[in-house]
Amino acid sequence: MASKEIRRKFLEFMESKGHKIAPSSSLVPENDPSVLFTTAGMQQFKQYYLNPGVAKNSRIATSQKCVRTVDIDEVGDSTHLTFFEMLGNFSFGYPNKENSYFKKETIEYAWEFLTEELGVDRTRIYATYFKGEKGVPEDKESLELLKTIKGLKEIKPQGFEDNFWSLGTENSPGGPTVEFYIDEIEIWNCVFNEYVFRNGKYEPAENKGVDTGMGLERLATIMQGKDNVYETDLFTPIIKKIELLATKSGVVANVRIIADHIKASVFIIADGVVPSNVGRGYVLRRLIRRAVRYGKLLGIVFFTSKIAESVIEIYKDVYPEIKKNKEKIFGELGKEEEKFGKTLEKGLQEIIKFEPKFNEATGFLEFGINGQALFDIYQTYGFPLEMSLEELDKIYSKHEIGIPADFKEDLKKWFEEEKEKWKNQFQEELKKHQKLSKTASAGMFKGGLADSGEEAAKLHTATHLLQAALREVLGEHVTQKGSNITAERLRFDFSHPEKLTDEQKKKVEEIVNEKIKENLPVVCEEMSVEEAKEKGALGVFDEKYGDKVKVYSIGDFSKEICGGPHIKSTGELGHFEIKKEEASSAGIRRIKSVLE
Ligand code: SER
Repeated sequence: MASKEIRRKFLEFMESKGHKIAPSSSLVPENDPSVLFTTAGMQQFKQYYLNPGVAKNSRIATSQKCVRTVDIDEVGDSTHLTFFEMLGNFSFGYPNKENSYFKKETIEYAWEFLTEELGVDRTRIYATYFKGEKGVPEDKESLELLKTIKGLKEIKPQGFEDNFWSLGTENSPGGPTVEFYIDEIEIWNCVFNEYVFRNGKYEPAENKGVDTGMGLERLATIMQGKDNVYETDLFTPIIKKIELLATKSGVVANVRIIADHIKASVFIIADGVVPSNVGRGYVLRRLIRRAVRYGKLLGIVFFTSKIAESVIEIYKDVYPEIKKNKEKIFGELGKEEEKFGKTLEKGLQEIIKFEPKFNEATGFLEFGINGQALFDIYQTYGFPLEMSLEELDKIYSKHEIGIPADFKEDLKKWFEEEKEKWKNQFQEELKKHQKLSKTASAGMFKGGLADSGEEAAKLHTATHLLQAALREVLGEHVTQKGSNITAERLRFDFSHPEKLTDEQKKKVEEIVNEKIKENLPVVCEEMSVEEAKEKGALGVFDEKYGDKVKVYSIGDFSKEICGGPHIKSTGELGHFEIKKEEASSAGIRRIKSVLE
């Protein structure tokens, strides 16, 4: 069964069950700066779960293009991809909205579609359900429904990790899932959004919703009797093209990586992203450059557009935007490939310079490298971190050959730890260089859903705690001389004649973390400057304040005039850490801190 047919069958089946068929949304989520790419079918309908009134239809089905980059290192095995399509049916507002449905219909539709429409042998299918964990009760209703299915091979209870789905952000829907497996491969994830995540807890939702997702590529693998996604018709023309162009034989995984990455790049460019050094553009750049590099290993150069042609051929009828943007896609790919080709060579030469030396005294290899150096190579030669690490892996393996077996394990462990360190240092450097609006890119880089406005509010509040703690440890002469806050860190300048000792820094950290643990309320009051002074509020009094100022009190610990955004209680702050303490100018010290 061709993948086109599977997709069509799914949508027609859901239409026959009263679903409105909606187009796939863009890979760039609209009005949602909190995420980089669309990663699931439910994303464009997120608001409908809490506000079903705004949904025109209570039943919708889609075939949604998705990009997930968390598994980028796994790409090349038999199931992981960065670009994939998710077939999904959705329902909102149960039981209050007309035509909405919940567990019964969801399970019935899934079973009917798999066994009758696709004709999958019942004995190949088993299901899992949520057994109850972390204060959320067992999903008995689904269990009872699954028990009524005749022919289902098995029903397995599973915990939170496997059978509970949630975005994990405040006020977002979440709930237990039922998952259908065919031949041990997870095929269909049916999420029953019957909770809302609020104040760190899952509270029962007034409106329940359904969100299902089935990976088309995996389903095609099964329906076409293949071993892995790359052997399906969604990939074979692309793989053939790469093999045709290759002048050297290579590892299978490398061919697959190129196929996956170029496919993802084609779709990402069609949705308006161009390669750059930040946010989505950075992900795109990484995908293209990774593909180019693996191409190089196969002896192919200037090939990305040729591969893109095959991608467009496969998908042009379903996603016309990639055909419409064909020239742009070829243009962007070509430009990036050329840019990268030139610098790649130079970068490689730089990395090779980091040949490790054997230290007689410690008995260890020493690389003489760090994350900053790797970042410099990235900045100068466009040589991404992961490629540098791969090169260093190769260099390491070469050196490992002569090492006695007894030492190898230790050495390997050490090397892995070193790499972790380099990675963190690299990320820190990268953050420093992100020029794009902090709000848009900061949260994205974490790959999660962090709201950087909120991060800044936390750091503002932490600054107050820091100042109070510094006064406690160093003395009342400490006053604020400047402050600068980004989404990632706070910087605080204050009067103090000498460098802080390690002990003093530790003490300050301890106090701040203690106050965080105490979960003190942060209270804001408006008053005149005079009143604020009288009440002992700290403030930079040579600054021009308006008639009324805002005074923030944190328990009895701190009272400060401030115009910045703040959070409600210190418990939200996490863990406070001083990253740096240095001189700012004569008599003024500077501290940089983060919240982890
Ligand atoms: N949101 C769920 C998932 O991504 C089901 O669509 O798996």
